[in-house]
Parts: sequence; structure tokens; C-alpha cells
Amino acid sequence: MGRIVWFGPRLQARAYWQFIMRRLFSAVLFSMVLVAFAALAACKAEPRKTDAELGLNEQQARGRRVYEAQCERCHEPYSSAGVHGPSLKKLGTRQYLPSGMPVNDDRLTDVIMMGKAKMPAFRGTIGDQQLQDLLTYLKTL
Ligand code: HEC
Repeated sequence: MGRIVWFGPRLQARAYWQFIMRRLFSAVLFSMVLVAFAALAACKAEPRKTDAELGLNEQQARGRRVYEAQCERCHEPYSSAGVHGPSLKKLGTRQYLPSGMPVNDDRLTDVIMMGKAKMPAFRGTIGDQQLQDLLTYLKTL
């Protein structure tokens, strides 16, 4: 500020004004960046819930691991947005699969083990016990 005093009152006021505007501008810019980050963070799916928060028992939690390893890349579990396959949200409360087939263990087993159109078959990848665990988990969706 000492340097500005030398310019006389008019210039000093202008310099001061510019100083304020610059401060204001960077404050606005800074808050815009903050808001942008917050919006981005909100877009990401809400933080992953733990098994306990979802109320999963041990078998369902094991099924969740199978799901995460094999299914999640194509079926987002808790969102209605399909990734590479239809959303399986609320599968446990649905009566019909997207194809119109009824939701039951036999149908699900067929779809999972034999695959379907663009969905790969998991026979040979998912063992018997894993399949049972997965089926119990699917019903919690
Ligand atoms: C490579 C992507 C991919 C993976 C991995 C995948 N799916 Fe799919 N899934 C699809 C596609 C695509 C469809 C739609 C197929 C159709 O109806 O033609 C589908 C359909 C389904 C359906 C509905 C079937 C119907 O009759 O409507 C179920 C249930 C399903 N998948 C469960 C699973 C499970 C459980 C896993 C994990 C073991 C899994 N998917 C892994 C892509 C995938």
C-alpha cells in the first residue's frame, strides 16, 4: 500500500478498487471451483454401503463378493442405470425379469449359468456354493 499512496488520492482509490475487484474475482473463482468439485462428488454414486449397513447376513455378504467380481461391471446393483446390461435394482421385489421371465431361482440360475444374448455364461466360472450365495444376495437388491 505504501507504493500506492505516492500516486495521489484519485489513483490510490482506483488501485484500491482494482485490488478489491481482484480479490473478489478470485474469491468467486475459488467458490466456483469448490461448487464444481462438490457437484462432481455428488454425481459419483453415494459412498459404498458396508454389508452391515445393507443388513446382509454372512451368505448374502459372500454373494455380494461374487456379484462384485462377476456382475457389477455390467449391472450396477443399487442404481436404475444399466451399465452394459439392464439394472438389477430391486430385483428381489420384482415379479419379472427385464425379458419378462418370472424372477425365481431356477430362471436366475439359467440366466447366470447359460448367459443370454450379450451376457456371458458363468458356468465354469461360478461354483455351486458361489451360485447359492449369489442368489441369496440378488434377492436383497
Ligand atoms: C458383460 C456384461 C455382463 C455381465 C458380466 C453380466 N451380465 Fe447380466 N446381462 C447382461 C446383458 C447385456 C443382459 C441383457 C440380455 C438380454 O436380455 O438379451 C443381461 C441380463 C441379465 C439378467 C436379466 C435376464 C432376463 O431374463 O431378463 C439378469 C438377472 C442378469 N443379467 C444377471 C447377471 C448376474 C447375476 C451376473 C453375474 C453373475 C451378470 N448378469 C453378469 C450383461 C452382463
